[in-house]
Order: sequence, then structure tokens, then C-alpha cells
Amino acid sequence: GLIQIINGPNLNLLGKRQPEIYGFETLEDVEADCAALAADLGLQCAFYQSNYEGALIDCIHQARDKAAGIVINPAAYTHTSVAILDALKTFDGPVIEVHISNVHQREDFRHHSYVSLRADGVIAGCGTEGYQLALRRLATLIAD
Ligand code: DQA
Repeated sequence: GLIQIINGPNLNLLGKRQPEIYGFETLEDVEADCAALAADLGLQCAFYQSNYEGALIDCIHQARDKAAGIVINPAAYTHTSVAILDALKTFDGPVIEVHISNVHQREDFRHHSYVSLRADGVIAGCGTEGYQLALRRLATLIAD
């Protein structure tokens, strides 16, 4: 199965942006780690990052035909985007929401997620390892 891994705004700066919160691993590092784990799990990964809400929605639509599951870190759109929630509702497979930081330990506006209304699982506060945990969970859900 193909897993679509989607990262939202500012995550292109991962490793350079607020490393005390998000760590020093770059998005490239995360993608390489995911690709290696996916191979072990008998999965493939496709990666997408955008700073634009509509582009993220287009990626979700394209995943409808090709992906068995989605890992998504919608970044700040987590807390604002009914449109991304609605797009994910058009996808039939499992969806795991990832946050690198523990959003529940941070500002109140980060405590609510629209995307969680659709996500089958949510991983927060596990650092960039969260993407790998999400892949493992999808491997289980897809096999079931
Ligand atoms: C984030 C948490 C969001 O609140 C924030 O806007 C991000 C990243 C995370 O991975 O911890 O950009 O999704």
C-alpha cells in the first residue's frame, strides 16, 4: 500500500524553525526515515508539503485514488481549517494526525483540532518520531 504523508505550513523549515520546540531534524531527514521504515513494513511513501491550504486539499483529493492511508501534520491549519477536515472526510482509508510538539502543553488555541474529528488516531509530543509511529499504526490498520 501507498501512504501519503502530508505536511502543512512552515514545516518546510523543520530543523531551522524553533528547534527548541520542533527539534533539529529537517523535513528531508524525516522523509528519509519514513521511507526506510515504510520499506521494512512493506509500504511505500509519497511525500507532500505545502504552505497553502488549497494545495493541501488538492493533495488529499489526489490521495483518494492512489493511497491506502494518510499521515498528516496540518500544522497551524489543524486549528483553523474546516476545509481540510472536509477534504479528509472524502478519503476512505485510515488517517493518522501527527503533531511533533505536545500541542496540549502549549497555548490554548493549539488544544483544539478540526482534523481530529476525522483522524483515526492522533500522535502529539513524540517529536519527529511521531511520523514513524503513525506509519506503524497505519500498517496495522491496513492489514486488519
Ligand atoms: C504542529 C503544532 C501546531 O500547533 C503548529 O502550528 C505547527 C506544528 C506540530 O507539529 O507540533 O506548525 O502541528
